[in-house]
Amino acid sequence: MHISNSVIIVTGASAGIGRATAVSLAQRGANVVITARRQERLAALAAELEPYPGRCFLLAGDIGDTAFARELVAQTVREFGRVDVLVNNAGLGHQSALAAMPLADVQTIFNVNVLGLLAATQAAIPHMQQQGQGQIINVSSIVGQRPLPFSAMYCASKTAVNFLSRSLRMELRHDKITVTLVYPGLTTTEFADAKLGKPGANRFGMRGVAPERVAAKIATAIEKQKTEVYITPIDWAFTHLNRLFPRTVDWFVARAMKLASQP
Ligand SMILES: NC(=O)c1ccc[n+]([C@@H]2O[C@H](COP(=O)([O-])OP(=O)(O)OC[C@H]3O[C@@H](n4cnc5c(N)ncnc54)[C@H](OP(=O)(O)O)[C@@H]3O)[C@@H](O)[C@H]2O)c1
Repeated sequence: MHISNSVIIVTGASAGIGRATAVSLAQRGANVVITARRQERLAALAAELEPYPGRCFLLAGDIGDTAFARELVAQTVREFGRVDVLVNNAGLGHQSALAAMPLADVQTIFNVNVLGLLAATQAAIPHMQQQGQGQIINVSSIVGQRPLPFSAMYCASKTAVNFLSRSLRMELRHDKITVTLVYPGLTTTEFADAKLGKPGANRFGMRGVAPERVAAKIATAIEKQKTEVYITPIDWAFTHLNRLFPRTVDWFVARAMKLASQP
């Protein structure tokens, strides 16, 4: 698919991976629709994107509100007459023991990471079917394939995203709609600070990859219609080693977490 002149929605565009993706796609000539809750951040990004050839349209709101997620797609179609790609990137995590995690936090995570993503996807599908093409890109995580302790419901939400995306990929096979899963590993964004529970940097003091690297992979996934996207070879190896040796990886992760939590 050509990015130039296409109409692409990017959720969670006020920070991190979503922001970098919006910039990267605008640089390649796309019309981008940017959304998140922080309007002032979106306005600053829209101003930054002005020199690029495509048009930028912003709509602020909570993607966990499914009525807003549907309205986002409807407004895009009213503005541009079509929607070529939906990048479902908005998401949030938590750092808390499952035994004591407030159910309200579980609800928030599933509203944003799963239900908002699904509502926007359901709204976009009929337009893509009518157009005879389209792409839905769901930003998951390597921890959707291999959970970590103290982020259980975040991991579970990403597993839900993986499964619904793979089912949808088969359901839409004959509609020329590509369903892409992107699996970032640790990425240097505001994600850790925005976590529910106990926000803050990861306990290993590890630095992640730059969000621009994930954004470049997303752009390539559109151009080459890729369906499964890993960012680094280490992410790929971690996921596949886990499939072969799940108990060994469990032991390794639990031990690493214990060491990291010691003073
Ligand atoms: N960073 C990592 O290490 C990492 C690793 C694997 C996967 N991921 C995934 O990558 C995606 C992007 O995360 P990031 O690292 O770029 O995090 P980030 O810097 O915290 O950005 C998250 C984005 O999501 C938006 N968002 C959060 N809650 C929202 C809500 N209720 N309604 C609308 N927008 C909302 C935020 O905007 P507002 O606050 O303005 O609403 C922000 O634009 C997420 O799906 C995350 O799970 C991240």
